[in-house]
Amino acid sequence: MIIKCSETKTEQLYRILIGSVVPRPIAWVSTQSTNGLNNLAPFSFYNVFSIKPPMLGFSPGYKRPATADSTAIAKDTLTNVRETGEFVVNVVSQFLAEQMNQSSADYPPDVSEFSAVNLTATPSTTVKPPRVGEALISMECKVFHIHDLGGSALVLGEINCIHLSDEVVKADANSGQLSIDLDVLQPVGRLSGNLYSTINDRFEIARPEI
Ligand SMILES: Cc1cc2nc3c(=O)[nH]c(=O)nc-3n(C[C@H](O)[C@H](O)[C@H](O)COP(=O)(O)O)c2cc1C
Repeated sequence: MIIKCSETKTEQLYRILIGSVVPRPIAWVSTQSTNGLNNLAPFSFYNVFSIKPPMLGFSPGYKRPATADSTAIAKDTLTNVRETGEFVVNVVSQFLAEQMNQSSADYPPDVSEFSAVNLTATPSTTVKPPRVGEALISMECKVFHIHDLGGSALVLGEINCIHLSDEVVKADANSGQLSIDLDVLQPVGRLSGNLYSTINDRFEIARPEI
């Protein structure tokens, strides 16, 4: 079977793509509106794209697409990053999965997801949006570029600083190099539909010698 994207309905294409690009990491993005309301929402169209400079990207869509007689209404996250240029990406560990999912609900504009799902809005160091206090890793970002994709946007952000909970950091005994202890982090990935994955089942393959 061949699916031609230009001839396929968006909903069908969405189901094929979210089942094909799996598992996807989840950016749990905190932003702040220009009037100071904190916002929090998950985005699985997300990845890290560069180390020098440290850069990540995620893709928020629209609450309502443009029609012949109305303009599109952006999701609050997209509005906030456009207007303030700042956001924080919090990593979703398994113990936070329920709250992450609940934070994707369509709350009224004056309700902060932090209080709605009972999370601590902990002040960030370099940006105004708070980080999720309960998250084991949070990355403070400044917008590098927002590329309009038509039905959604690609937000690229430069990572200013990374908050790491002590328990999640391992230091190599010889080199002192820091790395992340995945057994502690227990990150969650998004599959298709309502399915999520953990990383409990792993296998190792050494890099090729030549
Ligand atoms: C695990 C998960 C991943 C999601 N990924 C995306 C995504 O990549 N892009 C998107 O526009 N919406 C995504 N959503 C839906 C948004 O989280 C949802 O529309 C949310 O209400 C947006 O909030 P906001 O209006 O406060 O920005 C996802 C939802 C869940 C539960």
